[in-house]
Amino acid sequence: MNKIKVGIINVTGYVGAELARLLCRHLGVELISVTGRSEVGKKLGDVFPHLSPIDLSIEAEPEDAGLVLSALPHKASAEVVLSLLEKGIKVVDLSADFRLKDAEEYQQWYKFIHPAPGLLREAVYGLTELHRHQVASSRLVANPGCYPVSAILALAPPVKEGLIYPDIIIDSKSGVSGAGRALSLNAHYSETSDNVSAYALEGHRHLPEVIQELKVLHPNFSPSITFVPHLVPMTRGILSSCYAKLLEGKMANSERGKAELKELYRGFYKGEPFVKVVDTPPQTKQTWGSNLCLIYPTIDLRTGRLIVISCLDNLVKGAAGQAVQNMNLMLGFPETMGLEALAIYP
Ligand SMILES: NC(=O)c1ccc[n+]([C@@H]2O[C@H](COP(=O)([O-])OP(=O)(O)OC[C@H]3O[C@@H](n4cnc5c(N)ncnc54)[C@H](OP(=O)(O)O)[C@@H]3O)[C@@H](O)[C@H]2O)c1
Repeated sequence: MNKIKVGIINVTGYVGAELARLLCRHLGVELISVTGRSEVGKKLGDVFPHLSPIDLSIEAEPEDAGLVLSALPHKASAEVVLSLLEKGIKVVDLSADFRLKDAEEYQQWYKFIHPAPGLLREAVYGLTELHRHQVASSRLVANPGCYPVSAILALAPPVKEGLIYPDIIIDSKSGVSGAGRALSLNAHYSETSDNVSAYALEGHRHLPEVIQELKVLHPNFSPSITFVPHLVPMTRGILSSCYAKLLEGKMANSERGKAELKELYRGFYKGEPFVKVVDTPPQTKQTWGSNLCLIYPTIDLRTGRLIVISCLDNLVKGAAGQAVQNMNLMLGFPETMGLEALAIYP
């Protein structure tokens, strides 16, 4: 098979390094270039010893390739993505720059004027399970945020089927790698170990993409969402607990209703290689290093409230694995190629 040349921008971040790990053994692509400002000229394996089988030096600029994955911070990514598209290179952007459809909303949440508002409509929101066909024919895919992957997949079935009231609570916990590799006081060992903290109570930037995508599933649904992220002392992983009141008469408030709810989820995700509806509440460790999102839906029979627990690895299904899943479709490969690894345990 002729391999398609691909590149990674910002391999010096956690997401970029995770992309390199996944692409290293991918049978359909050849990783030809990796960039990262702070380590230009160094061998990739000298900066990240676990990536030493990849014989590449870190460059300042990406080489021309069939597809490039950009793992830059937002704002920096938009500018690079524009130049790649102008050269006819397909792009998976892992930053937030092309996720929102509305340029004003982007400006409100990200505090700068979007450099290419015309591309926001064209970019496909890369939650593969919901937009598979559009991803396959796109030249620009906006990979979703890590929290949104867990929350949207957890809530998509009841929203699509019109089972819940729009008043939703999403309570999410993330490992520290979600904050990136750049040094910051909040990520110091002595600040994060033996500690759990809530943050962004005034509104987290991932909230608008969750609302946008739930509306796509059910255009008459206007979600009112309280989303509270938490930082917990682990390296990888996101666990989201989602709550919403079930609409009366839609699902029996009984053991039978719980079983029907699970069947509804199983039907919704039938055939999905990376979304599994499980029989017991999932734990983040069950997804470490894998591209799986595990989902457990149930009903709190005392209150008639839907509870959905979902979990994933923020660097895989929440970022690099999701991006490779999208890349596979954009390049005409089987969706699961290079993503077959099981989770690491214990
Ligand atoms: N971490 C996650 O779980 C996660 C999940 C989903 C999506 N994402 C998104 O993926 C992207 C990368 O995330 P990450 O966690 O890998 O970030 P990260 O580890 O914090 O990467 C930060 C690195 O980006 C480079 N950088 C910073 N500002 C730059 C600029 N203006 N121009 C060029 N390079 C710049 C710097 O490396 P150099 O100095 O070497 O250039 C910096 O060390 C972000 O957009 C993030 O929102 C992250």
